Amino acid sequence: MSYVIENTIQFVKEKLEGAEAGHDWFHIERVWKLSRKIAQTEECNLEVVELSALLHDIADPKFHNGDETLALKISREFLESQNVEEKIIQQVLFVIQNISFKNRGETPKDLPIELKIVQDADRIDAIGAIGIGRTFNFGGFKNNLMYHPDIQPKLNMSKEEYKKSNGTTINHFYEKLLLLKDLMNTHEGKKIAEERHQFMQAFLDQFLKEWNVD
Ligand code: ADP
Ligand code: NI
Repeated sequence: MSYVIENTIQFVKEKLEGAEAGHDWFHIERVWKLSRKIAQTEECNLEVVELSALLHDIADPKFHNGDETLALKISREFLESQNVEEKIIQQVLFVIQNISFKNRGETPKDLPIELKIVQDADRIDAIGAIGIGRTFNFGGFKNNLMYHPDIQPKLNMSKEEYKKSNGTTINHFYEKLLLLKDLMNTHEGKKIAEERHQFMQAFLDQFLKEWNVD
C-alpha cells in the first residue's frame, strides 16, 4: 500500500473518532474496499478512487451545520500536506463534492469513472445486511417506530406520503433503499447491488409476514 494511502487511513481514523455508527471508520473502510473491488473491473485512476473513498465522509454537512465546503477544505489541506499532485487533488475533491445521495436522479453518463465507482460503493453499503443494520441503528437513534400497520409501504412514495408515514424505519426501505440498485453506475456495482437487494427484499417480506400473524 502506498505511503499516502496509509497516511490517509490514519488521518481519517483520527478525524472520525466518536462519529455516529452509520458514518464511522468502518463505513469508510467498507466503502474503500468495495471501491477497490469495483475499480478492478474498470479503467480508472486507482489513487483517485482510493483517496476519494477514504475522504468522502470526512465532514458530512449534516453534522456540521449544513456546511458543504468544510469537507473540501479539510481534504485539500490534508492532500497538500501529503504533496499529492494538484491534478489528483482536484479529481478527489470533485468526487467528494458530488457523491451525495442528494444527487438522486440518474447519474449523467459523462461523469468521471472514479466518481461512479465510489458512489456505487457508498450506495452498496446502504443496502443488504449491512444496510438493514445501519437503517435500524439510525431509526433507533432517532427513536423512530420500526413500522406502523396503518402505513402501507410502497415504492416511489412522494415526499408528502413519506412525511405522513412518520418516518418509520421500514418505510425508509421503500423511500430510498429499494431504489438504489437501479441507480448503480458500473456493471460490477449492479451485480453486487442485485444480490444485496434480493436479501433486503426477503428480509422485508419476512418482517411483514412475522408482523401480520393471523
Ligand atoms: P449517506 O450519508 O450515506 O448519504 P444518510 O446519512 O442519509 O446517507 O444515511 C446514513 C445511514 O442511515 C444509511 O444507512 C441510511 O439508509 C440510514 N438512514 C437515513 N435516513 C434514515 C431514516 N429516515 N430511517 C432509517 N434509516 C435512515
Ligand atoms: Ni458514506
